[in-house]
Order: sequence, then C-alpha cells, then structure tokens
Amino acid sequence: MDINKIRQEYGVFRNNPNLAYLDSGAMALKPDRVVKALEDYYINYGVNVHRGVYQLSYQATDKYEEARNVIADFIGAKFEEVVFTRGASSALNLVASSYGMFNLHEGDEVITTELEHHSSDMPWFNVCKLTGAKLKYIPLDSEGRITVEAFKSVLTNKCKVVAITYVSNVMGYITPIREIIKLAHEAGAIVTLDGAQAVPHMKVDVKELDCDFLSFSGHKMCGPTGIGVLYGKYELLEKMNPIEFGGDMADTVRLDSQTYKLPPYKFETGTPNVAGAIGLAEACKYINEIGFDYIVKREKMLRDLAVEKLSLIDGVIVYNKTAETGIISFNIDGVHPHDAASVFDNNGVCIRAGHHCAQLITTWLKTIGTIRASFYFYNREEDVDLLVNAVKDAKEFFGKF
Ligand code: ALA
Repeated sequence: MDINKIRQEYGVFRNNPNLAYLDSGAMALKPDRVVKALEDYYINYGVNVHRGVYQLSYQATDKYEEARNVIADFIGAKFEEVVFTRGASSALNLVASSYGMFNLHEGDEVITTELEHHSSDMPWFNVCKLTGAKLKYIPLDSEGRITVEAFKSVLTNKCKVVAITYVSNVMGYITPIREIIKLAHEAGAIVTLDGAQAVPHMKVDVKELDCDFLSFSGHKMCGPTGIGVLYGKYELLEKMNPIEFGGDMADTVRLDSQTYKLPPYKFETGTPNVAGAIGLAEACKYINEIGFDYIVKREKMLRDLAVEKLSLIDGVIVYNKTAETGIISFNIDGVHPHDAASVFDNNGVCIRAGHHCAQLITTWLKTIGTIRASFYFYNREEDVDLLVNAVKDAKEFFGKF
C-alpha cells in the first residue's frame, strides 16, 4: 500500500506533512471520507431519528440503523447487540452500573488487573464498594503481563465478573483472552472486555472470543468523537435494567407502570449521536478496506524499528520491549515525561506523557508516568527517526541543567 496516498486522505497530514503523529492511542486522525459522511448527514438529512413522520427523518433513521448493522458486522455481533454510547468509558460504566449493581452481592468476587485504564477498573471498584463484593487483581508477571496461570491463581467459583483489558493502553500487551474467557465461564463468571485499544488495531470477533461484553470508542479508530459501542450478549442485555430513563427508550408509560423497549434501544435514552454513528460506520468500512493484515504488520514493523533505535540511546528505558502492538512506553533518565513531551512538541512529534489514566500500572512500573508513542497504520518510518531525534534533543536540552 502506498503510505503517501493513505496520508493524502487526512487533512491533518496535508496541512502538516512532516508531523510525527504518535498519539493514536489517545485519538486516531480522521480520513476525509469520515468527515464527509458527517457533513453529508448534517447538510442533507440532519434531522432526528425514530420520531419524525416525514421522509428526511426516515432517511436519517435508515442511515443510523444501517450504521449499527455495519458496526455489528465489523465485530461479528448481531444488530440488536450493539448499543451506541458516548465512548468506551460510558460503555464500561454501563456494564458496571447495569449488570454489576444488580448482580453482585457480599461474598462475590470481581477480578481485574493493574493494567486497566481507569475507565475499566474504577467502575468496578465503586460497584464493589457499594455491593460488598471483593475486588481482586491478577498478579502481573515480571514484564507486567497478564498470564493465564496468574489468572487461575486468583479465580474461584465466587468470581462473578472479570473486568479486563484486551490490549493495555500503556504497555500494548495483548491479553491471552480466549483462555481467560473460557476459564471464567467455567467458574460461572461473565467477562467484560475493554476493547478500546484492541478493536482499532486487530480483528476482534465477539462470537469467536465468546466475551459477554466488549466496549470500544469510535475516535480511536478513525471515527468521530462522542460515539462508542457496548456489545453485549443479547440474553444479558435483555435481563439488564436501564440506568438512564426517558425519551426513545420508553415503550409504555402510565401512572402506575412503565415498560421499556427491547435492547439495544432500552439503553439509548434521548436523541442519539446520529452523525457519530454514521461516521463510525464509515470508519469501519474504511478500516476494512485498509485491512487488519496490513494494520497489524505495519504497526509491528514501526514499533520494532522504534524500540530498536530507542534502545540504542543511553538513558532511555523502554518498559514494554516485547509488546505486540504499536504502543511504546519509555522514559528518559532524569527527564520528567511532561518536560520531554514539550521538547518533542517543538520537534513536531506528538506523543502522550503521564500516567495515561492508568495509575495502577505506572505505580507498578515505579514511575510517575511514561512517554507513550502510539503508532497507527498511517505512520511512516520517518516518524520513528523524528521520535529518536526528539529523544536525543530532550536529553541534550535537559542535560544542560
Ligand atoms: N484512553 C486514551 C489513552 O490511552 C485517551 O490515551
């Protein structure tokens, strides 16, 4: 594939051809066709869905529901198992509030890990505090990975929920999730997966994984902001109570009784993010055309090159040399990650610095934070060189003090 041709589809690259955008873990850039899909909705049929008895509203409703179909196909789910949310965080919170609060009791156990993003572990910390269930952590191995053996060491038949990341946003490790899901189910637990860093980067098929819930965001996969997805097995969604009530989710409302629509609608209160859903579906089509074979290979090639070059610089500590995905977490000895990020910015290198909303793992690494470079398929080998030069500049600049 011609990388220059791919980059020409992005306004950010057309306007900043030499920018090393290495922060796709925080947000992916948007190709023109996604922006055009949003524009098309707003300009040509930007009205509400499920309500209007007129042609434009039918058109908007058709496009919104067609988007759900595209996204369901993208992850191997059924149409009615795709709930639109504001993002991965609200999807993860929905599972904790709607499933966790109604199914956990004192004596039950929830298993999570120190690799979680705050949006994955904090909702369960809260649910455990409120229900009296116990929160347990899978001990990480010496590299900071989740292993099946370590999972087995904390799994008992008191476990009702496993809340776990598929790909860590700090370490980029892929969790051995198939085996964990199988073992969790044998013990009688459900598994809620944080797929925010997985779904944009590799083929994720919920039926093949047999996960119970999967949450992800649109903005990390070339889609718009403010849209995400909760996949849930229909039989679970059907039994769950909504946590937000109001317009569009109601079926009948009487003085003494209220009923709700069936999933996914019972979890989608108020006017939905119609443009966001349409834009995310366009992003799914685009990613399918790029292809996960290409995405996986390119990210691996770029990360391996970057790890190799960074490891040659004295004073650079790479925390996740063996990771499988495009995330590299590192530090420069004696330089605060935020200070390094400012020098990088002057060099036209965009990275994220700090705890990455995952303080458990930065604490485990015994650091206040890391510099995180996160690659996507649209990055170039030149971006690696720009990163390496920025590291050298930061070392030199702060070495003077
Ligand atoms: N969760 C996003 C990240 O890891 C914002 O940067």
